[in-house]
Formats: sequence, structure tokens, C-alpha cells
Amino acid sequence: MRGQGGELSVPSHLRSLVASAWTFRWQVELDADARFDRLAGRLEQIGAAPALVDLARRASQDERRHAGLCAELARYYGESTPPVGHPRIQEIAPSGLLVRGQVLYEIVASCCIAETESVGVLTTLLGAAQGPRLRHILHELAQDEVGHSRLGWAHLASEHAQGTTAFLGPLIPSMLEGNSGPELFARAPPEQDDEALLEHGVLPRRLKLQVFRRALEDVIFPGLDHLGVDTIPARSWLAARVQRTPAECQG
Ligand SMILES: [Fe+2]
Ligand SMILES: [Fe+2]
Repeated sequence: MRGQGGELSVPSHLRSLVASAWTFRWQVELDADARFDRLAGRLEQIGAAPALVDLARRASQDERRHAGLCAELARYYGESTPPVGHPRIQEIAPSGLLVRGQVLYEIVASCCIAETESVGVLTTLLGAAQGPRLRHILHELAQDEVGHSRLGWAHLASEHAQGTTAFLGPLIPSMLEGNSGPELFARAPPEQDDEALLEHGVLPRRLKLQVFRRALEDVIFPGLDHLGVDTIPARSWLAARVQRTPAECQG
């Protein structure tokens, strides 16, 4: 649907939902900027390959640029973001791990899982989003997130070569908890399942669950298994979550 000037017009009942989705992503990108910046320092600290440290630094810059693009879209849909966001990064790794284990935990959670999920989301959106500017932005985000995901897989492979990845197996479910949230598996107001959201770069909730599962089952679980991380606990976590999800929410 286009307005008179060729711009995308959004149904009025979806406008605030679309605007707040882009505002939420703006904050996520700012958080990712700060997380990669911190990870670059920590990778250096544990003696990771300089190429990986550089990738983390570049990822931080990418995420800052992404935040600007998401803010542009939030404004387009009628919501303004503050001039400077406040990153909300927390320590996500269990405190009992040594620094090297904490870094691996954080990289697997944020790159192998979150960034790989993000690629799945953006690829799906690219198949349906309308408007040249929105498509350009989604394409730019997708291209960069592929690189950020690879950073995680490269670090995991390097740690696997030294035999230090098996401890992650029982910890993957808590990473998945952190990357999903209960609303993914629950009933939502009907507008959140409106297919028209896709044109504006927002995944309807039901599709979100499908994309989440597909990324796990097709890419993330096989990748983890291949690099010495037992995915039985994670697969059980997913099966239990899906079993508790109302059938009509599963797409
Ligand atoms: Fe990003
Ligand atoms: Fe990213």
C-alpha cells in the first residue's frame, strides 16, 4: 500500500505497533553496539585471534549504524527516539564461569543464537517488505548480521579446536530463554498477528515463532552439535515450550 507520494502507508490500527517495534529494535541495536565493544576488549584479554577482535570492533560500529537506521524508521512511523540511547547490557553468563568461559557463553548467546535468529527474521522480512528505503535498510541489516553470526561460529570453532565447548550444553536453554521471552509462545492481541505488519518490516507474532524454531532446528542446533555442544537439553527445552504453546499460535 502506498500513499500519494509513493511512501508506505500503514493502517492506523497498526501504526503505533510498527513504530514501537522499530523503536524497540533501535534499543536492541544500541545494546548490541555496547556488547560488541565490550566483547572486543574481552576477546583481546583472553588472547583471541586479532582478526576476531577486529570483527567484534567492526560489529560494534555496524550496530551503531543500525541503531541510526532503526531510529529513522521509528520516526517515519511516528515515534521519536531520544538523541542518545542508554545501552542496557548486563552480564548474561553464569558467574561461576572463568573469564574465557564467560566470553564464550556471551558470544554463543549473542552471535551464534541471537544474530543467527536475526538473520532468519530479516531474510523473512525481505521477502515481504514494501518500499525501496525499507528494503534497502533491511538488506543492509541482514548483510551485517550474517557477519556478526559468523564471528560467533568462528570463535566457537576455535574454542572447540582446543576442546573447551562441552560445558555449554546444559547452559543453552538459559540462552534460549534470554533470546525468546514468554510472549513468543503465548496468545497475543489479534493485531500482533496481522499479516500487514510484514510490509512494514515487522514480523507477525505467529511467524516469529516459526522463524525462531526454523533457525534453531535448521542452523543453530546442527552448528552447535558439530562444534562439541550437546543440544539435547536445548532440544528438550524447545519441545517443552512448543508443547505448552496453544495450537493456534503455532502457525
Ligand atoms: Fe544489528
Ligand atoms: Fe548484529
